[in-house]
Amino acid sequence: MFETLQLAPPDPILGLTDAFKKDPNPNKINLGVGVYQGEDGKTATLASVRKAEALVLEQAAPKTYLPIEGSPDYGKNVRTLLFGAQDARVSDGRAITAQSPGGTGALRVAADFARGKLGLKRIFVSDPTWANHQQIFQAGGLEVVTYPYYDPATKGLAFDKLLAGLAQAGKGDLVLLHACCHNPSGVDPSRAQWEILAETAKEQGFLTLFDFAYQGFGDGIEADAAPVREFAARDLELIISSSFSKNFGLYNERVGALTLLANDLDASNKALSQLRVTVRSNYSNPSAYGAAVVNTVLANPELNAQWHNEVDAMRDRIAKMRKLLVQGLKAKGVKQDFSFIEHQKGMFSFAGITPEQVDQLREKHGIYAVRSGRINVAGLRESSIDRVTTAIADVVR
Ligand code: LMR
Repeated sequence: MFETLQLAPPDPILGLTDAFKKDPNPNKINLGVGVYQGEDGKTATLASVRKAEALVLEQAAPKTYLPIEGSPDYGKNVRTLLFGAQDARVSDGRAITAQSPGGTGALRVAADFARGKLGLKRIFVSDPTWANHQQIFQAGGLEVVTYPYYDPATKGLAFDKLLAGLAQAGKGDLVLLHACCHNPSGVDPSRAQWEILAETAKEQGFLTLFDFAYQGFGDGIEADAAPVREFAARDLELIISSSFSKNFGLYNERVGALTLLANDLDASNKALSQLRVTVRSNYSNPSAYGAAVVNTVLANPELNAQWHNEVDAMRDRIAKMRKLLVQGLKAKGVKQDFSFIEHQKGMFSFAGITPEQVDQLREKHGIYAVRSGRINVAGLRESSIDRVTTAIADVVR
């Protein structure tokens, strides 16, 4: 049978890493996949994570199965991150959490649950959105519809068009919103715009799915949860996908969570029972290690404080790289205004370069970026800024 298959195209993001590894250019720079690197070009394991790993190994917990939804403690700590330590939803049972294999695993389970258990048929996603969203939701049997998001003219949010697009979404539809650090654009709604979005969800009755993969990389761990809390405060049912790949630097451990917020205990109990069925038929139950590490950090006040500091430091370094990138481009005499890069949030920047210019960056300069024009600012270094700005200046000329 296999000879009947067509060759699939490389993945638009992870395929770049494969191509990068094969490139013999000694000066190559990978600004493709969203992985944070320090000034030394390495993705060091966070100190808080290393300490938690030592504690987890010391405990030598038996390697029997976890519950289908994972560890209850982990669920509670994830909900604390989402709703805030003082919020009743953390432990009153209205919100339930399933540990998942990364944010992607959570999104896929969300799609299966929405289609298979809630009978939803469509999901609205932003245009543009993360390159993997469409295929995850389609694989889950949902029709994917886009709503306008990014305005290339202003390099900002096309908020009126966004609202006009969401006017098509109603009861029985799912709407995906990036809780912070929109991927790929780095453009987030303002606080006031989030309030309008929450009101819109309430009025129109669609179900919101938050993709929350960058908590802490926007304005801070607590501040970035404001949109989720804004919606929760209106007693809206919610689905939230969390990823701990970036903020814990646990990319290859695949740690994430899917949280469902219901209006009452009866609904959340039923939702949990159906979510268990969805998970059981998908990956049965989650792997223990990565979540145990995250849970150990979150549960230990000292490690938790250290983790907050480490996330702050990553965010500050990214902000510095944004600044240096803008200054560097100016210094190279680039006429185009790139100052918008400094106002974008998270790891990524939609750098205002065309797919053809991205190809030239790779072919002429060994610099890898996603063809949409997305660059991973968290992959820049003070020592590479000069080369990157020289190359961008060359291709946008
Ligand atoms: C990205 O957007 O680069 C990351 O979320 C990694 C991935 O899986 O695509």
